[in-house]
Amino acid sequence: MRVMVSKIRHRMPSFISLSIFWLSAFLVLLTTTEQSLAQSAYADHQYTSEDIEAGSRVYVAECALCHQRSGSGVDGVDLRLGQFRRPLSDNDLREVITTGVSNGRMPGLDLRQDELDGIVAYIRAGFDPSGIAVKVGDAARGQMLFEGEGQCSSCHRVNGRGPRVAPDLSDIGVVRTPAALQRTLLEPSSALLPINRPVRAVTRDGQTIRGRRLNEDTYTVQLIDSEERLLSLIKSDLVEYEVSETPTMEPTTLSSDEVADLIGYLLTLEGLR
Ligand code: HEC
Ligand code: HEC
Repeated sequence: MRVMVSKIRHRMPSFISLSIFWLSAFLVLLTTTEQSLAQSAYADHQYTSEDIEAGSRVYVAECALCHQRSGSGVDGVDLRLGQFRRPLSDNDLREVITTGVSNGRMPGLDLRQDELDGIVAYIRAGFDPSGIAVKVGDAARGQMLFEGEGQCSSCHRVNGRGPRVAPDLSDIGVVRTPAALQRTLLEPSSALLPINRPVRAVTRDGQTIRGRRLNEDTYTVQLIDSEERLLSLIKSDLVEYEVSETPTMEPTTLSSDEVADLIGYLLTLEGLR
C-alpha cells in the first residue's frame, strides 16, 4: 500500500508537467492560427495594429483633454466602450471629429486622413493597442443588405418582423460587440453559441423533429422546429437525440465593405427601450 501511494505521488508531478507542456503547445498553436486567421481572412475587414497604435498617440494629444484617457470624460459618451449618443459608423465618427458636435461644445479638428483612421481604429479596438478594430459601415446600406441581397431576413426576425427559425436579432446591437458580430458572419462555426445549436430528435413513434435548441435540462429539451412551432420534448420519450456542431448559417459571401455595413446595421438594433 505504501509503495503504491509513493508511486502515485511520484507520477503525478510528471503527468501534470507533461500535460502543461502539451496544453501550452496547444495554446501556442491556437494563438498562432488565430493570428494568421486574423491576418488573412479578416485582414481587409479590420484596421491594422499600426493604425490602432498611431491612433492611441493622436487620441492622447487631441481628445484626452475633454474625453480623458479613460474615454469616459464626457457625460453620456464612453469612447472606449463604443457608447455614443447615437449609433455611429466609422464615417460618422470621422465626421464628428472633423466638424465637431453640439454647436462647438466639441470643436471640429483638422486632422490628416491617416490620423482620423488611427483614432477610429483606436476607438473600435476599445482603446487596446493589441486589440482588434472591426470596421463599422453604414447602417442604412446594411439594412438594405439585411432585407435584400444578404437574405438575412429570410431566417431572422427583427422587431416583430420575419420568421422565428433563427435567433431574433432585435437587440443584438446591445448584446454583441462588433468583433463578435463579424466572427458570426465570417466564420459561423467558431461563433456558434452552445444553446443555439441545431438539434435532431426521433420520437418513439418514428417522427423526426429538426429545430434549433432554445433550452435544455436533464430531462427535457425546448426547441423551435422548422415550422416555427415551440416544442418541449421529454428526453426519455426519444429514441434518438443529436445536437449538431455545424451551424445552420453559412459563412457570408458578401464583400468586406458590405459586411461592415451589416455590422453597422446590427449595432443599431437595440431592442425596445
Ligand atoms: C473641447 C473638448 C473636446 C475635445 C477636444 C474632443 N471632444 Fe468629443 N465631445 C466633446 C463633448 C462635450 C461631447 C458631447 C457633445 C454632446 O453633448 O452631444 C463630445 C462628443 C463626442 C462623440 C459622440 C458624438 C455623438 O454623436 O454621440 C465622439 C464620438 C467624440 N466626441 C469623439 C472625439 C474624438 C475622437 C476626439 C479627438 C479627436 C474628441 N472627441 C475631442 C468634447 C470634446
Ligand atoms: C438559413 C438561415 C439563416 C440565414 C440566411 C442567416 N442566418 Fe444568421 N443565424 C441563423 C441561425 C440558425 C443562427 C444560430 C446559430 C446557427 O445555428 O448558425 C444564426 C445566428 C446569427 C447571429 C448570432 C446571434 C447571436 O446571438 O450571437 C447573427 C448576428 C446572425 N445570425 C446574423 C445574420 C445576418 C446578418 C445574416 C445575413 C447576412 C444571416 N444571419 C443569415 C440562420 C440564418
